[in-house]
Amino acid sequence: MDMDSFIVLLFLFLARAEAASHGVGREGKAGGAVLLPLRLQEVAPPPRAPANRLRFRHNVSLTVSVAVGTPPQNVTMVLDTGSELSWLLCNGSSVSPPAPFNASASFTYGAVDCSSPACVWRGRDLPVRPFCDAPPSTACRVSISYADASSADGLLVADTFVLGAQAVPALFGCITSYSSSTAANNNATDPSEAATGLLGMNRGSLSFVTQTATLRFAYCIAPGQGPGILLLGGDGGAAPPLNYTPLIEISQPLPYFDRVAYSVQLEGIRVGRALLAIPKSVLTPDHTGAGQTMVDSGTQFTFLLADAYAALKGEFLNQTRSLLAPLGEPGFVFQSAFDACFRGPEERVSAASRLLPEVGLVLRGAEVAVAGEKLLYSVPGERRGEEGEEAVWCLTFGNSDMAGMSAYVIGHHHQQDVWVEYDLQNGRVGFAPARCELATQRLGAQV
Ligand SMILES: *[C@@H]1O[C@H](CO)[C@@H](O)[C@H](O)[C@H]1NC(C)=O
Ligand SMILES: *[C@@H]1O[C@H](CO)[C@@H](O)[C@H](O)[C@H]1NC(C)=O
Ligand SMILES: *[C@@H]1O[C@H](CO)[C@@H](O)[C@H](O)[C@H]1NC(C)=O
Ligand SMILES: *[C@@H]1O[C@H](CO)[C@@H](O)[C@H](O)[C@H]1NC(C)=O
Ligand SMILES: *[C@@H]1O[C@H](CO)[C@@H](O)[C@H](O)[C@H]1NC(C)=O
Ligand SMILES: *[C@@H]1O[C@H](CO)[C@@H](O)[C@H](O)[C@H]1NC(C)=O
Repeated sequence: MDMDSFIVLLFLFLARAEAASHGVGREGKAGGAVLLPLRLQEVAPPPRAPANRLRFRHNVSLTVSVAVGTPPQNVTMVLDTGSELSWLLCNGSSVSPPAPFNASASFTYGAVDCSSPACVWRGRDLPVRPFCDAPPSTACRVSISYADASSADGLLVADTFVLGAQAVPALFGCITSYSSSTAANNNATDPSEAATGLLGMNRGSLSFVTQTATLRFAYCIAPGQGPGILLLGGDGGAAPPLNYTPLIEISQPLPYFDRVAYSVQLEGIRVGRALLAIPKSVLTPDHTGAGQTMVDSGTQFTFLLADAYAALKGEFLNQTRSLLAPLGEPGFVFQSAFDACFRGPEERVSAASRLLPEVGLVLRGAEVAVAGEKLLYSVPGERRGEEGEEAVWCLTFGNSDMAGMSAYVIGHHHQQDVWVEYDLQNGRVGFAPARCELATQRLGAQV
């Protein structure tokens, strides 16, 4: 099939899907949902949108396994509710380990022509306007470069994603060359397990969610390497009772407000029973849009604006004085944003973590509660003590300002063992504590 007819079919499909409000997974299994295996992996995510640019690229990502192309090729993509356009590393990319999507092996693959209406500049995710490939090619070329000096080049293409019983066409960026400032950290233990792309799940017009007219999706992230699950289109009949918080919409574009993010209203932060004294103005977007709160599966930890962070750090240190020994190295900062750090042997800190006060992110109508071992992260490679018997631990909340961000971001680390539902139809996000490994087993997902 030539590309123009493919694009026409794609848009016809989208129009039909939207009109019928059916969305993905209508014919899938388990309560109308398509189930996909989800897991945390030690792999750096590909470059992402500059909206919440972090100076430091973390290396634990939430990944989902999907099948793309005809015949289907299994690929592992970072699930990113903070990004719009999806990406796959295609053949020819210089990424190691090589686990490319082989575009030429798929007969439904097609590059978008640069004269196509799909090759227009839709902004945010593409800092550079798409342009025509060097003649005689007329492919639509996309190029991105990031604050951390990573960059990616490729083509805007379309292919089908296999979702349950359906093969759904979608546009994505097919990266053919990629350079990462943190390429040395991209080592994965098993090359077949490396993330080969990014699934853009925000509310923008080019996101996978929008293109496939998905009106609802949910996930449950299991801690560690355990199997978790992504549900597209329904709840699989397995969702626990959820508390919902409304998505924030703003009518006027503001420079620092990401309007296609899953933005919610933070109303307070609690440490144990103590609600921190943080003025409402600090928790609400200002006239520039800075200060929104995003639920973002593409970021590892959680980030708070400086004033809120300082209040949390003070109260947490105060309440944990008898349980944790502060690191006592004023210059120590993990990943340029985490400076509430402690020292201690694994067994002692692990025992103490059960007694730590819960930290609650109080949203309008819902709360994300973080307790126990999720509160602390053992910094890789840092040992203290005569014999190196102590590890360095940092509170898993970071300072947005230090990281160069102007938003609150709730990352995937704090969404472990939480059922999170994105209900686009009703403009809300739901949360409930869950045992994700069990929920995954109950749903009988193949992982
Ligand atoms: C893709 O994954 C599915 C399910 O895990 C498996 O049955 C299939 O054989 C895989 N296909 C390839 C080409 O590896
Ligand atoms: C993949 O490789 C084939 C042949 O080597 C080439 O024709 C095709 O354009 C390549 N695709 C991309 C996206 O680079
Ligand atoms: C990609 O697929 C084509 C066509 O099936 C094949 O000739 C080529 O060897 C494949 N490339 C890689 C890197 O697997
Ligand atoms: C990545 O792997 C290469 C070769 O296996 C190795 O030389 C390098 O040290 C590794 N980098 C990291 C950060 O582990
Ligand atoms: C620490 O907590 C005590 C009571 O628990 C309180 O009196 C004191 O003001 C707190 N200190 C700081 C720095 O918050
Ligand atoms: C992340 O990368 C660092 C190197 O920067 C490495 O030491 C560490 O083991 C990696 N993994 C995790 C889980 O931090």
